[in-house]
Amino acid sequence: MIHNSTIDAQLNHRSIRKYKDKTLSKEQLETLYEVFRQTPTSMFMQNATLMHITDEAKRAKIRELCNQKYVGAEGDLFIFVVDLYRNQQIRHQLGKDDGRVHTTDIFFQAVEDTLLAYQNVANAVESMDLGYVPLGTINDHPLEMLAELDLPKLTFPILGMQVGVPDQAPQLKPRLPLKFTTFENEYSKDFNVKDLADYDQVVTTYYDLRDSNKRIDSFTNQITGAKLAKHETDRDELPELLHKQELCLDWK
Ligand SMILES: Cc1cc2nc3c(=O)[nH]c(=O)nc-3n(C[C@H](O)[C@H](O)[C@H](O)COP(=O)(O)O)c2cc1C
Repeated sequence: MIHNSTIDAQLNHRSIRKYKDKTLSKEQLETLYEVFRQTPTSMFMQNATLMHITDEAKRAKIRELCNQKYVGAEGDLFIFVVDLYRNQQIRHQLGKDDGRVHTTDIFFQAVEDTLLAYQNVANAVESMDLGYVPLGTINDHPLEMLAELDLPKLTFPILGMQVGVPDQAPQLKPRLPLKFTTFENEYSKDFNVKDLADYDQVVTTYYDLRDSNKRIDSFTNQITGAKLAKHETDRDELPELLHKQELCLDWK
């Protein structure tokens, strides 16, 4: 296997949930913005927007909605926004109609842009010996979060990122063996859960610093447990949110 500083940083990835009381320097922030900016973009539409949340009251409200104490606490908080508003404005202000901005196709392209930019920034963060944690919880209460961020139609805050100087050293979290997740030419459909026995065992050796340094449950127990069990959650507002934002309106 090849090793260089980029690959080593990627292979060393761990989510960081405890940070020193320090914010990014101007130079670090500028660097992350430039990396964000230069990410590939579908059809050169540039459909991603990055918000740096520095206002304390906003950070506190976002932390409350995410219900995770490290959100908007020490370090820097970013929200990655799927953004079709800007291009709609370009069309409107230059006398054109909305065209395809409300289609699922264009929405997906904007999601792709935004998530590529996300991981590009994440890699840059780790290359600077900083840490981050992705924040899917920004959509635990999607309608409230939208109101808090006061975003225009045709935008969708897809993922948050808390960034900072690590104040913890979590274990590397073991991933599925590649034979389950990578195929050559043909998708292998003969998956058998029994083949996960060894991996299940490995997962239970991981200590979760998030949960008072306890071992975690096996992978199959996590998947058959609460994560995917039917339950009511405000996250089910997501289709309503997309509709409210006038995204994916072509779905019938
Ligand atoms: C899309 C996405 C959303 C996530 N949301 C959260 C979150 O809201 N809070 C959190 O603490 N971790 C979150 N994570 C981090 C995962 O829990 C973490 O990546 C996973 O357990 C693997 O651990 P590792 O990143 O340390 O390797 C998220 C990760 C992804 C990819």
